[in-house]
Amino acid sequence: MIKLDHVCVHFPKSSGHFIFKKTYQQILYDVSFDVKEGECLGILGESGSGKSTLGRVICSLLQPFKGSISIDSVELYTKRGALEPGTLAVVFQDYTTSVNPRFTVRDIINESFIVLFRRTGKCIDVEQEAVRLLKLVGLDEEFLYRYPHQLSGGQLQRICIARAIAVQPKVILFDEAISSLDAHTQVQVMDLLKDIKKQYNFTYIFITHDLPSVTYLCDRVLFLYKGRVEEVIPVEDMSHVTSDYAKSLLHSILDINM
Ligand SMILES: Nc1ncnc2c1ncn2[C@@H]1O[C@H](COP(=O)(O)OP(=O)(O)O)[C@@H](O)[C@H]1O
Ligand SMILES: [Mg+2]
Repeated sequence: MIKLDHVCVHFPKSSGHFIFKKTYQQILYDVSFDVKEGECLGILGESGSGKSTLGRVICSLLQPFKGSISIDSVELYTKRGALEPGTLAVVFQDYTTSVNPRFTVRDIINESFIVLFRRTGKCIDVEQEAVRLLKLVGLDEEFLYRYPHQLSGGQLQRICIARAIAVQPKVILFDEAISSLDAHTQVQVMDLLKDIKKQYNFTYIFITHDLPSVTYLCDRVLFLYKGRVEEVIPVEDMSHVTSDYAKSLLHSILDINM
């Protein structure tokens, strides 16, 4: 479903007046992996390891300087490589800035219906479908006319999830989407994501710095360290990791829990 092949990303360093000698800082080094249809791949790495940069490459927001990426057999960043709008949906950590504060929940979800309409020509009963999606994410219809400031963090993140599902995507990418919720709400939202995935057979990419959430939700985990893929391994084989980075990460967590 998704395939990355030797993706490299660098950013120009802001080095003042050496206009002709631009220097670059490399962020991703030869990143290659694939994600199968219906799979949940966790991308795990510490802060600054390049996870969000990788997420932006996958979302068609950042062209790598080397390497290729294809989603659903469409190669991105080529002339014909425009992904159909709504093939991939994203849920970010910062749910407060990813919604328009002047929009009601209904308006927020309706934006996705507009994307869906452009892609499929499908006309839907906005009210009815929005209420169905609210129920799916565990909220009832009284939330339909609320504004973002009238919701808790967990509720607003559920709205962002409903908005992502509303475009009927094939892939949903979560970038630290549950990291700023409290522990109890995190588990609730992960359970919700599991349920929804079963119902719709979505493909998930779940970016996080938090190992326990990966083991709870994902089928495979990719360890990203300083912009390099250290290891990709099924979650149930986690105790057999071979790379030094993955080992040290697991040990540090086991130490804390002892
Ligand atoms: N647009 C940019 N320009 C320059 N440097 C960037 C840019 N975006 C990210 N970086 C740098 O890339 C590195 C990785 O960032 P990021 O992908 O956000 O890491 P993570 O999400 O794993 O915390 C950081 O050192 C960051 O400063
Ligand atoms: Mg990040």
